[in-house]
Amino acid sequence: DMGGHDTYMHKEISEQSDAVDRVLRGRIDDRFSTVHLGGLNLDAREARGIRRVKILGCGTSYHAGMIGAQLIEELARIPADAEPASEFRYRNPVVDPDTLYVAVSQSGETYDVLAAVQELKRKGARVLGVVNVVGSAIAREADGGMYVHAGPEVCVVSTKCFTNTVVAFALLALHLGRIRDLSVSDGKRLIEGLRKLPAQIAEILEGEDDIKKLAEEYAGAQSMMFIGRVRGYPVALEASLKLKEISYIHAEAYPASELKHGPLALIEPALPTVAIVPDDELLEKNRAALEEIKARSGRILAVAHREQEKADHTIVVPKNETELDPILMGIPLQLFAYHTALAMGRDIDKPRNLAKSVTVE
Ligand code: F6R
Repeated sequence: DMGGHDTYMHKEISEQSDAVDRVLRGRIDDRFSTVHLGGLNLDAREARGIRRVKILGCGTSYHAGMIGAQLIEELARIPADAEPASEFRYRNPVVDPDTLYVAVSQSGETYDVLAAVQELKRKGARVLGVVNVVGSAIAREADGGMYVHAGPEVCVVSTKCFTNTVVAFALLALHLGRIRDLSVSDGKRLIEGLRKLPAQIAEILEGEDDIKKLAEEYAGAQSMMFIGRVRGYPVALEASLKLKEISYIHAEAYPASELKHGPLALIEPALPTVAIVPDDELLEKNRAALEEIKARSGRILAVAHREQEKADHTIVVPKNETELDPILMGIPLQLFAYHTALAMGRDIDKPRNLAKSVTVE
């Protein structure tokens, strides 16, 4: 049932305020400015003993894991990184008893992720699952974890589950942070930020008509570049993946800082750039990148917290706490990919060559 929407993708994008509300519900503890995650099976002493966090997933879940790793490193000050589960599995990684492994999956059935979990468990590692589908294979295999409560996702490409997974990671990072060195006041600040998300998502979705017009304008492009730095880089990767999956437009994502090391050679009027430009400590650096693109007559669509002069168009998103900004910045680009694909007449819910869950190697 599409509930009045023309596609599941549109329905699922539109549901994100409620979905984020669900992942937050019952988990916030105002008394200690922390988060309760009943299913982690990780007590405070064990949480303090973690020396590294390694996050494993595929596709969109891998991108959500990249943001998760940044959140954990920033809020809990534990070295953390994300890696595609398939790559991890085949490079004979060192499995370390002081590392917390986290497997991320919407379906909970992705074969490469499941196989990585099984290999890790066989070697005695502790593995958590961050999963949407309750009772799925990865949820069952993991030592503990959290459900992201996005609700059923039918469209082949993931949207609301991406957002909810990133929010779930913010909760995990806050939980680990408050057991370690994150202050009460930072805990409070982030909890307030989390509580603002559903209303801010609704505000972004209200801008759909403007995003649709922009998408129609850019739909003729053969190829698009997506750039961002640090928190904005995984957002750029995910936006680029979404666009290529459903519109079949070629898209690349780069850290803005890498442009001058090669991809700048591609910039010309026919190759538009989508730039993630949050109001954070890298704002001036990001603006400098926009200038370099403009100097080569490249068209720029910015996603930012305020109008960007160097950009041809800006989608302005509401500001949250800096650490939480990536949660919101990807949402207008889901709509952008959607309306680009729609303008091109694509089969949005069932893009060619793709399956919803990849249960083979
Ligand atoms: C992208 C997409 C895929 C999945 C990937 C992992 O829109 O849907 O990239 O994210 O196949 O799937 P899960 O999260 O079910 O493990």
